[in-house]
Amino acid sequence: MDDIRERLRGLPAFPADLPVLDPEAVPADPTELFVAWLNQAIETGARQPHAMTFVTTRRDGTPVGRTLILKDVDESGYHFSTHRTSRKGVELGRNPRASMVFFWRESGRQVRVTGTARALGDDVSQADWEKRPSYTGSPNPDWQVYTLDPDEIEFMQAREDRNHTRVEYARDSDGAWSHHVVTTPAG
Ligand SMILES: Cc1cc2nc3c(=O)[nH]c(=O)nc-3n(C[C@H](O)[C@H](O)[C@H](O)COP(=O)(O)O)c2cc1C
Repeated sequence: MDDIRERLRGLPAFPADLPVLDPEAVPADPTELFVAWLNQAIETGARQPHAMTFVTTRRDGTPVGRTLILKDVDESGYHFSTHRTSRKGVELGRNPRASMVFFWRESGRQVRVTGTARALGDDVSQADWEKRPSYTGSPNPDWQVYTLDPDEIEFMQAREDRNHTRVEYARDSDGAWSHHVVTTPAG
């Protein structure tokens, strides 16, 4: 165990040549910034840039995460798909509040999207099912596309000196977004 502790301690956390997040220059709409960061991750060859950790809660309040693929982003929110009868599907049925955490390690960027998950229509779900590599021609009534309708989105840009920059957007009840710099400790 001493061995793994020393190995971990010796690993670099972040490289020196990271992009800079200027809180004065961010757009009013957080999804514009999210799509810009996602596009940069895709264009610079990040592996599975559309993968994220998706967090739900169990009946007793315990949070649980797993990796999912982002399928789309539009005015309704951030789309993902899964089986309705999976554990996460059942958990969302009980409590639709959820979070997505994206991490693009090459650029030291993290985004946390928090909101309320809502099931999209059968037409959308079956169209997604038919595009899967495992599709054999039969519909799957258990397959469900959801959208996570966000009300809070936090962007973190890592810095080599660990003074990471964080900008959090919050949506008010009228749907308007505002943002501020987060100053609580961060790593
Ligand atoms: C890179 C990656 C992508 C994945 N994408 C999906 C996905 O889009 N939908 C899905 O249902 N499961 C996906 N999985 C599997 C889930 O992480 C999870 O194991 C499975 O959905 C069961 O989760 P649950 O028991 O919490 O419901 C993916 C796993 C990995 C490693």
